[in-house]
Amino acid sequence: MLGAALMKLLSLCWSPVGASNGEEGGGDGGGGGGREGRDGLLRYRDIGRYAFGEFSMAVVQANQVLEDQSQIESGPFGAFVGVYDGHGGPDAARYVCDHLYRNFRVNLNWEPGLRLDSSSEVLVHEVSSGPLGVTSETIERAFLQTEEGFTTLVSELWNSRPEIATTGSCCLVGIICNQTLYVASLGDSRVVLGKKVGNTGEVAAIQLSTEHNVNVEAVRQELKSQHPNDPQIVVLKHGVWRIKGIIQISRCIGDAYMKHAQYNREPINSKFRISGPMSMPILSSTPTIISHPLQKNDSFLIFASDGLWEHLTNDKAVDIVHNHPRAGSAKRLIKAALQEAARKREMRYSDLRRIDKKVRRHFHDDITVIVLFLNHDLIARGLNQCPPLSIRSALEH
Ligand SMILES: *[C@@H]1O[C@H](CO)[C@@H](O)[C@H](O)[C@H]1NC(C)=O
Ligand SMILES: *[C@@H]1O[C@H](CO)[C@@H](O)[C@H](O)[C@H]1NC(C)=O
Repeated sequence: MLGAALMKLLSLCWSPVGASNGEEGGGDGGGGGGREGRDGLLRYRDIGRYAFGEFSMAVVQANQVLEDQSQIESGPFGAFVGVYDGHGGPDAARYVCDHLYRNFRVNLNWEPGLRLDSSSEVLVHEVSSGPLGVTSETIERAFLQTEEGFTTLVSELWNSRPEIATTGSCCLVGIICNQTLYVASLGDSRVVLGKKVGNTGEVAAIQLSTEHNVNVEAVRQELKSQHPNDPQIVVLKHGVWRIKGIIQISRCIGDAYMKHAQYNREPINSKFRISGPMSMPILSSTPTIISHPLQKNDSFLIFASDGLWEHLTNDKAVDIVHNHPRAGSAKRLIKAALQEAARKREMRYSDLRRIDKKVRRHFHDDITVIVLFLNHDLIARGLNQCPPLSIRSALEH
């Protein structure tokens, strides 16, 4: 039974922001309040509440089947945000969205008595050793368990759906816990911090994530040093650097065909097949993880898939969020990117908007944006007192 005081707390946490004017579909999907809506291929949640403040979320589809997935979760430990930019199909990103957070949570042991058996992806009962806490190790473990689980799925489906071996996903995760932000990333999604500087009201853009894309010289060097006997590990093809002439990102979940030789053969599409033996995985699934102690002048975080950053600089994105009302921030960033994509093709934004999915992919990629505003009173109070929150941007399966 919930006590009266707890009920009051719950209702305070839930009091939805702007839910009373929910003219556009209204609905409170996964919780968190806020106005939801849809505008052609763009879906958005203008503003809602998570454990440590407000958030804004939006996604625009360009592919025939949406390949981006994302989520915001709150648990007793704090808040978890994930942006998963799939490629080759939606399967890997969907798998990550369904499993990574769960693996992370089970590692923390917040569900006493349950442990994830990493070989079988099954929860087994064991005596709880107490919470392990959020550390780089527990986060990395969740990534590696997710990779193992997906590889198991690839092996199970090899006879019926071998093409799943050529799907993969970038993963960008932000976790706020104990007044610290942890960022873990695989691939080229990006999180940028808007930080107040001095007393002038200005906000600077600080990129917190590392990108694993071979358009970055350091990433090419890393691959070359890992594969000293393969002079063809990265090649310039039609002006774009690609690993084995195929893929641009060096770390991801999935893309089993680039990690295990047994999936690099018929019947996968010949364009993915590499010649010569594969003695070691070419792509990695070990994330780069940083921890950032949150300071009062850390104002907001912009998490977004590569599709946004293709058209907007970090500074421009931070300016847009800083200089406009919070509500609708994520949608505003996507519109700014689409306007830029249209401008590059010398067309009007209104004409771009009329182009349907699939053909849209020629103009821009799927784009996901989550903006988290940081409320330092809530962050200082520590443990999240709101009930669990669970929101997915991409509900259409
Ligand atoms: C927060 O920090 C304390 C003290 O360092 C630690 O015991 C606890 O496990 C941490 N909480 C989480 C959820 O990581
Ligand atoms: C932000 O605040 C911290 C102290 O809380 C201070 O050390 C730091 O210099 C500030 N950063 C900027 C960019 O103003």
